[in-house]
Amino acid sequence: MDQQALKEQVAEAALERVAARHNDRLLLGIGTGTTAECFIRTLPAIRSRIEATVASSERSAALLRELGLPVMDLNSVGPLDVYVDGADEANAQLALIKGGGAALTREKIVAAASEEFICIADASKRVGVLGVFPLPVEVIPMARSHVARALAQLGGQPVWREETITDNGNLILDVHGLHISDPVDTETRINQMAGVVCNGLFANRPADVLLLGTSAGVEVVSGSALS
Ligand code: A5P
Repeated sequence: MDQQALKEQVAEAALERVAARHNDRLLLGIGTGTTAECFIRTLPAIRSRIEATVASSERSAALLRELGLPVMDLNSVGPLDVYVDGADEANAQLALIKGGGAALTREKIVAAASEEFICIADASKRVGVLGVFPLPVEVIPMARSHVARALAQLGGQPVWREETITDNGNLILDVHGLHISDPVDTETRINQMAGVVCNGLFANRPADVLLLGTSAGVEVVSGSALS
Protein backbone atom coordinates (compact mmCIF):
# COMPACT_ATOMS: atom_id res chain seq x y z
CA MET A 1 0.00 0.00 0.00
CA ASP A 2 1.49 3.39 -0.90
CA GLN A 3 1.53 6.36 1.49
CA GLN A 4 -1.41 8.07 -0.22
CA ALA A 5 -3.55 4.93 0.18
CA LEU A 6 -2.63 4.79 3.89
CA LYS A 7 -3.72 8.41 4.31
CA GLU A 8 -7.03 7.74 2.56
CA GLN A 9 -7.54 4.70 4.76
CA VAL A 10 -7.17 6.68 8.01
CA ALA A 11 -9.28 9.52 6.62
CA GLU A 12 -12.16 7.05 6.06
CA ALA A 13 -11.65 5.64 9.56
CA ALA A 14 -11.84 9.16 11.01
CA LEU A 15 -15.03 9.85 9.08
CA GLU A 16 -16.61 6.69 10.53
CA ARG A 17 -15.60 7.77 14.03
CA VAL A 18 -17.01 11.26 13.53
CA ALA A 19 -20.22 9.94 11.96
CA ALA A 20 -20.75 7.59 14.92
CA ARG A 21 -21.19 10.58 17.23
CA HIS A 22 -24.80 11.19 18.21
CA ASN A 23 -24.92 14.89 17.35
CA ASP A 24 -27.26 15.72 14.49
CA ARG A 25 -25.54 19.05 13.89
CA LEU A 26 -21.78 18.51 13.98
CA LEU A 27 -19.31 21.31 14.65
CA LEU A 28 -16.02 20.12 13.18
CA GLY A 29 -12.49 21.44 13.55
CA ILE A 30 -10.45 20.72 10.44
CA GLY A 31 -6.67 20.43 10.23
CA THR A 32 -4.08 21.15 7.58
CA GLY A 33 -1.83 19.03 5.39
CA THR A 34 -2.13 16.18 2.93
CA THR A 35 -3.74 13.75 5.41
CA ALA A 36 -6.23 16.35 6.62
CA GLU A 37 -7.06 17.03 2.97
CA CYS A 38 -7.93 13.34 2.50
CA PHE A 39 -10.30 13.71 5.47
CA ILE A 40 -11.86 16.88 4.03
CA ARG A 41 -12.58 15.00 0.80
CA THR A 42 -14.62 12.40 2.74
CA LEU A 43 -16.88 15.02 4.36
CA PRO A 44 -19.46 15.44 1.57
CA ALA A 45 -20.72 11.95 2.58
CA ILE A 46 -22.07 13.43 5.86
CA ARG A 47 -22.80 16.92 4.53
CA SER A 48 -26.36 17.03 5.89
CA ARG A 49 -25.11 16.50 9.46
CA ILE A 50 -22.47 19.25 9.38
CA GLU A 51 -23.58 22.47 11.01
CA ALA A 52 -20.22 24.18 10.56
CA THR A 53 -16.52 23.58 10.08
CA VAL A 54 -13.67 25.70 11.46
CA ALA A 55 -10.44 25.38 9.48
CA SER A 56 -6.90 25.68 10.85
CA SER A 57 -5.60 27.30 7.65
CA GLU A 58 -6.69 29.34 4.66
CA ARG A 59 -5.71 26.37 2.47
CA SER A 60 -8.08 23.96 4.24
CA ALA A 61 -10.84 26.59 4.32
CA ALA A 62 -10.55 27.00 0.55
CA LEU A 63 -10.90 23.25 -0.04
CA LEU A 64 -13.88 23.03 2.33
CA ARG A 65 -15.63 25.86 0.47
CA GLU A 66 -14.80 24.27 -2.89
CA LEU A 67 -16.65 21.16 -1.70
CA GLY A 68 -19.64 23.28 -0.65
CA LEU A 69 -19.13 22.79 3.09
CA PRO A 70 -19.93 25.61 5.56
CA VAL A 71 -16.80 27.31 6.97
CA MET A 72 -17.19 29.54 10.03
CA ASP A 73 -14.99 31.75 12.17
CA LEU A 74 -14.20 30.10 15.53
CA ASN A 75 -15.56 33.17 17.35
CA SER A 76 -18.99 32.56 15.82
CA VAL A 77 -19.46 28.92 16.80
CA GLY A 78 -18.22 28.27 20.35
CA PRO A 79 -16.83 24.87 21.41
CA LEU A 80 -16.35 22.27 18.67
CA ASP A 81 -17.27 18.59 18.87
CA VAL A 82 -14.16 17.14 17.29
CA TYR A 83 -10.90 18.18 15.63
CA VAL A 84 -9.32 15.98 12.95
CA ASP A 85 -5.76 16.63 11.82
CA GLY A 86 -2.51 14.96 10.78
CA ALA A 87 0.90 15.11 12.46
CA ASP A 88 4.58 15.10 11.59
CA GLU A 89 5.47 12.82 14.52
CA ALA A 90 3.51 11.02 17.26
CA ASN A 91 4.77 9.18 20.33
CA ALA A 92 3.09 6.48 22.42
CA GLN A 93 1.52 9.06 24.76
CA LEU A 94 -0.05 10.75 21.69
CA ALA A 95 2.13 13.83 22.08
CA LEU A 96 2.75 15.23 18.61
CA ILE A 97 5.02 17.40 16.54
CA LYS A 98 2.97 19.44 14.09
CA GLY A 99 3.52 22.48 11.90
CA GLY A 100 5.32 21.07 8.88
CA GLY A 101 2.70 23.01 6.91
CA ALA A 102 3.25 26.15 9.05
CA ALA A 103 -0.32 26.10 10.43
CA LEU A 104 0.66 25.15 14.00
CA THR A 105 -0.81 28.14 15.84
CA ARG A 106 -4.29 27.88 14.36
CA GLU A 107 -4.09 24.08 14.69
CA LYS A 108 -3.36 24.42 18.40
CA ILE A 109 -6.20 26.89 18.86
CA VAL A 110 -8.76 24.71 17.06
CA ALA A 111 -7.56 21.59 18.90
CA ALA A 112 -7.91 23.43 22.23
CA ALA A 113 -11.46 24.47 21.34
CA SER A 114 -12.51 20.88 20.52
CA GLU A 115 -13.92 18.23 22.84
CA GLU A 116 -12.04 15.43 21.06
CA PHE A 117 -8.85 15.50 18.96
CA ILE A 118 -8.53 12.67 16.45
CA CYS A 119 -5.06 12.50 14.91
CA ILE A 120 -4.72 10.69 11.58
CA ALA A 121 -1.39 9.63 10.14
CA ASP A 122 0.38 6.92 8.24
CA ALA A 123 2.57 4.60 10.31
CA SER A 124 5.80 6.39 9.31
CA LYS A 125 4.85 9.20 11.73
CA ARG A 126 5.12 7.01 14.84
CA VAL A 127 8.36 7.53 16.81
CA GLY A 128 9.80 6.47 20.16
CA VAL A 129 11.16 9.92 21.06
CA LEU A 130 9.96 13.12 19.37
CA GLY A 131 12.46 15.37 17.63
CA VAL A 132 13.80 13.68 14.51
CA PHE A 133 11.36 15.89 12.59
CA PRO A 134 12.57 19.49 13.13
CA LEU A 135 10.28 21.26 15.62
CA PRO A 136 8.49 24.25 14.03
CA VAL A 137 8.27 27.41 16.14
CA GLU A 138 6.17 30.41 15.00
CA VAL A 139 7.81 33.73 15.93
CA ILE A 140 7.02 37.43 15.67
CA PRO A 141 9.32 38.74 12.88
CA MET A 142 11.29 41.22 15.06
CA ALA A 143 12.09 38.43 17.55
CA ARG A 144 13.53 35.95 15.03
CA SER A 145 17.21 36.24 16.02
CA HIS A 146 16.47 36.56 19.74
CA VAL A 147 14.32 33.42 19.72
CA ALA A 148 16.87 31.57 17.58
CA ARG A 149 19.56 32.23 20.22
CA ALA A 150 17.24 31.04 23.01
CA LEU A 151 16.42 27.86 21.07
CA ALA A 152 20.15 27.21 20.55
CA GLN A 153 20.63 27.48 24.33
CA LEU A 154 18.01 24.76 24.68
CA GLY A 155 20.28 22.50 22.61
CA GLY A 156 18.66 22.80 19.18
CA GLN A 157 19.83 24.17 15.84
CA PRO A 158 17.14 26.60 14.62
CA VAL A 159 16.83 27.16 10.86
CA TRP A 160 14.72 30.03 9.51
CA ARG A 161 12.15 28.75 6.94
CA GLU A 162 12.87 31.78 4.77
CA GLU A 163 10.21 31.31 2.11
CA THR A 164 7.35 31.03 4.61
CA ILE A 165 5.01 33.64 6.11
CA THR A 166 2.29 32.09 8.28
CA ASP A 167 -1.44 32.85 7.94
CA ASN A 168 -0.87 35.12 10.97
CA GLY A 169 1.93 37.12 9.28
CA ASN A 170 4.76 35.56 11.30
CA LEU A 171 7.93 33.51 10.63
CA ILE A 172 8.84 29.87 11.25
CA LEU A 173 12.05 28.57 12.82
CA ASP A 174 12.55 24.80 12.41
CA VAL A 175 14.57 23.44 15.32
CA HIS A 176 16.82 20.51 14.39
CA GLY A 177 18.64 18.19 16.74
CA LEU A 178 16.27 18.15 19.70
CA HIS A 179 15.83 14.87 21.56
CA ILE A 180 12.50 15.62 23.23
CA SER A 181 12.30 13.21 26.15
CA ASP A 182 9.91 15.45 28.14
CA PRO A 183 7.56 17.00 25.56
CA VAL A 184 5.37 18.83 28.13
CA ASP A 185 8.42 20.56 29.62
CA THR A 186 9.91 21.45 26.21
CA GLU A 187 6.58 22.81 24.95
CA THR A 188 6.17 24.94 28.06
CA ARG A 189 9.77 26.27 28.02
CA ILE A 190 9.61 27.32 24.37
CA ASN A 191 6.22 29.00 24.89
CA GLN A 192 7.82 31.15 27.59
CA MET A 193 10.42 32.68 25.22
CA ALA A 194 9.53 36.29 24.42
CA GLY A 195 8.55 36.56 20.77
CA VAL A 196 7.33 32.98 20.41
CA VAL A 197 3.72 32.79 19.26
CA CYS A 198 3.45 29.02 19.43
CA ASN A 199 5.51 25.86 19.02
CA GLY A 200 4.63 22.66 17.21
CA LEU A 201 4.66 20.38 20.26
CA PHE A 202 1.17 19.16 21.15
CA ALA A 203 1.95 17.63 24.54
CA ASN A 204 0.04 19.71 27.09
CA ARG A 205 -2.99 18.94 24.92
CA PRO A 206 -2.10 15.71 23.08
CA ALA A 207 -4.41 13.86 20.72
CA ASP A 208 -7.19 11.80 22.33
CA VAL A 209 -6.94 9.07 19.75
CA LEU A 210 -4.45 8.28 17.00
CA LEU A 211 -5.58 6.45 13.87
CA LEU A 212 -2.46 5.02 12.23
CA GLY A 213 -2.56 3.72 8.69
CA THR A 214 -0.60 0.50 8.26
CA SER A 215 -0.56 -2.03 5.43
CA ALA A 216 -2.39 -4.40 7.82
CA GLY A 217 -5.21 -1.89 8.41
CA VAL A 218 -5.95 1.03 10.72
CA GLU A 219 -4.40 0.81 14.17
CA VAL A 220 -6.32 2.70 16.86
CA VAL A 221 -4.13 4.07 19.65
CA SER A 222 -6.16 5.56 22.45
CA GLY A 223 -4.76 8.03 24.98
CA SER A 224 -6.99 6.76 27.78
CA ALA A 225 -5.89 3.15 27.10
CA LEU A 226 -2.34 4.16 27.97
CA SER A 227 -3.06 5.75 31.33
C1 A5P B 1 0.44 21.39 9.23
O1 A5P B 1 0.92 22.56 9.79
C2 A5P B 1 0.90 20.20 9.98
O2 A5P B 1 0.74 20.25 11.35
C3 A5P B 1 0.36 18.90 9.44
O3 A5P B 1 -0.66 18.37 10.22
C4 A5P B 1 1.48 17.95 9.42
O4 A5P B 1 2.56 18.60 8.79
C5 A5P B 1 1.13 16.66 8.70
O5 A5P B 1 1.01 16.91 7.34
P1 A5P B 1 0.81 15.73 6.31
O6 A5P B 1 -0.52 15.14 6.59
O7 A5P B 1 0.86 16.41 4.96
O8 A5P B 1 1.93 14.77 6.49
